[in-house]
Amino acid sequence: VSEKPLAGKKVLVTAGPTQEEIDPVRFISNHSSGKMGYAIAKVAKMLGASVCLISGPTCLSVPYFIDEVVFVKSAGEMYREVLDRAEQYDILIMCAAVADYTPAQRSGSKIKKIEDKLVLELVKTPDILATLGQVKKENQVVVGFAAETEHVVENAIEKLIKKNVDIIVANDVSEAMGKDTNHVYVISKNKAVVEVEGTKEEVAKELLLRICENFC
Ligand code: C5P
Repeated sequence: VSEKPLAGKKVLVTAGPTQEEIDPVRFISNHSSGKMGYAIAKVAKMLGASVCLISGPTCLSVPYFIDEVVFVKSAGEMYREVLDRAEQYDILIMCAAVADYTPAQRSGSKIKKIEDKLVLELVKTPDILATLGQVKKENQVVVGFAAETEHVVENAIEKLIKKNVDIIVANDVSEAMGKDTNHVYVISKNKAVVEVEGTKEEVAKELLLRICENFC
């Protein structure tokens, strides 16, 4: 087996959470650390690919050895940066924990603590993965992640079908967020389920080799 099985391939990875601003000092976000996406970007590079990492805000150090790193804050920004580049990439791995909802309006000034109750109106963010599933070309591989708290595999298979992706990686959030290890199920279109456990880099390598085997 070649040590650089991804040589000549272009891989785009999203990582981390997104931040949806409420006002100049507040935002809605989630506990994603970005570690899984950064590990995928790093291992893809080690396996010979040209890599673009589109990252939400994380505490991780900037991986300078990656070909292109783009930092974004909101789901809307991530959507634009991914869609601007998607056509040029062979393998698109959407690992980011994109916010599902964003405030309908961002207040230009800090919201004052006056009322006893504050109701925020939220609207759905664009689904980057589902959009890629719709526009992908025949030779492109689209991979999604599904963080679940229950019925992990069943819910992930539902997402794989609904979003028209080639592979979905399912994990139980309690076993992944913030940690250096992960325990996932890699599910392909034919519904074959492979369980993988290890450090996030080990899981990334297993996933990328599986993509190579099936699609490269
Ligand atoms: O539907 P759900 O958000 O659970 O699906 C998770 C998958 O969809 C992940 O791969 C995530 O990166 C992607 N996603 C996305 N854009 C969104 C929401 C989720 O790309 N707005």
